[in-house]
Amino acid sequence: MEMVSLAEKLLQYGQSGACPMHMPGHKRNSPFSWMEPFARMDVTEIDGFDNLHGAEGILKDGMERMALLWGSRRSFFLVNGSTCGILAGIRSLTRPGDEILMARNCHKSVYHAVEVNQLKPVYLMPGVDGETGIAGSIRPEAVEALIKAHPKIRLAVLTSPTYEGVISDIASISAVLHRNGIPLMVDEAHGAHLGFSSRFPGGAVRAGADVVVQSLHKTLPSLTQTAAVHVCGERADEEALARELSIFETSSPSYLLMASIDSCVRLLEEQGEELFEAYGKRLDRLDQRLSGLSRIDIWGLRQRGDERERGFWGWDRSKLLIGCRKAGMTGPELMKRMRGRYQIELEMALGGYGLAMTSLCDTEEAFDRLAEALWALERLPSEGILPAIERPAAGLPLREAFSWEVKGKAKTPIALKSAAGRTSAEYVWCYPPGIPMIVPGEVISPEIAEGWREMEERGVELSSTYGGISKGLLYVTDEREGNSC
Ligand SMILES: Cc1ncc(COP(=O)(O)O)c(C=O)c1O
Repeated sequence: MEMVSLAEKLLQYGQSGACPMHMPGHKRNSPFSWMEPFARMDVTEIDGFDNLHGAEGILKDGMERMALLWGSRRSFFLVNGSTCGILAGIRSLTRPGDEILMARNCHKSVYHAVEVNQLKPVYLMPGVDGETGIAGSIRPEAVEALIKAHPKIRLAVLTSPTYEGVISDIASISAVLHRNGIPLMVDEAHGAHLGFSSRFPGGAVRAGADVVVQSLHKTLPSLTQTAAVHVCGERADEEALARELSIFETSSPSYLLMASIDSCVRLLEEQGEELFEAYGKRLDRLDQRLSGLSRIDIWGLRQRGDERERGFWGWDRSKLLIGCRKAGMTGPELMKRMRGRYQIELEMALGGYGLAMTSLCDTEEAFDRLAEALWALERLPSEGILPAIERPAAGLPLREAFSWEVKGKAKTPIALKSAAGRTSAEYVWCYPPGIPMIVPGEVISPEIAEGWREMEERGVELSSTYGGISKGLLYVTDEREGNSC
């Protein structure tokens, strides 16, 4: 194994005096000072620096370290985020036309994989918790019932932990699927930090999933876009995955990003346990400081004991889900106040909650500041509360509603106020979390249209496939009758 890290090797090379007659165009001699710290370490696949697509040297070594640390059969560094791991992973495990079981609260990249690979999605609806309004864990019994009803399912994909930190019982779910010969791919984009200490739950790699995708950049000290895909189970084909990665991932992977992954792996190898232990203690102290809040709810960090009955198999305590309904605020209002008065930027806000993401890099001072802000907000006066948004009903199959070549049907734009009762031809989502509130083919009920209108009015930004919801939504029309489907 290489003793010197990729980052050190890049720094040494930058000072070696070598004259670069190759990419990148900045030649480590950029006239723009802002580029200076990055350009110094930014090279291409020159001698000694290996090649991500077909690694045999320092990158292979780094990926082997990662596999050993996570306990996978093989791990791949990703520089296009979890998105490219999800696209490649799904394609490596399916053929066009296959049925795929997917949790309805999957990230939009899973929907895009369905579109690109012409798959037929069978949705699994997670339960929604009445108190928080968020999706609960995926139940193994629900997976079993669905694969019995759809015996042609070839792959199952689910998210654990979710954006909000909800964990599913991956060991039981993979056992159910494997008994039926179906591989499991877990979108663990939000869980790269799991399994390094007894203070946090274990991750999907050691729980029996076949392919696991993680965004290192979301929860570990690593640069934005860095991620990993782990091949774990026998049902996954590592060579097929490598081939798909060469399609979905850039052919010019950034050495800055790969050095960041390599350094993150080395840090966890050497100090992972003690770093997570100290972080766990800081979270305990934050928990103590927040105890006694009554109008602000803190979910995730603290377990109340009724989580299982409410449909949550497990929680990742690094996520602070801040419920603000009782304090008379919507999530976006909470986010705005945290930003304006206390200069604290939350990860996201929706409906009646905001999400504070913590990591092992958060200091004690940062947690103190968060606690002080939450105590101050507890005393603010009330405003009206947003209604929870219901789940849409299915109208047309996704691919049919998305495609432009639907026989006898057209796509027509319509203002949101007139959208009730129409079949959507677009995705609508908030980013974050990027989980579609409606997908092409689902019906926009009057309650959904009204819920979106209110959300927009109260500062929630809604996005849609074609240029944003405020420009009007595309819906599917039956041309012959002039009616919406
Ligand atoms: C659940 C989930 N999966 C996948 C992704 C995509 O991850 P990345 O941004 O690393 O491509 C996200 C991004 O927010 C996500 O929330």
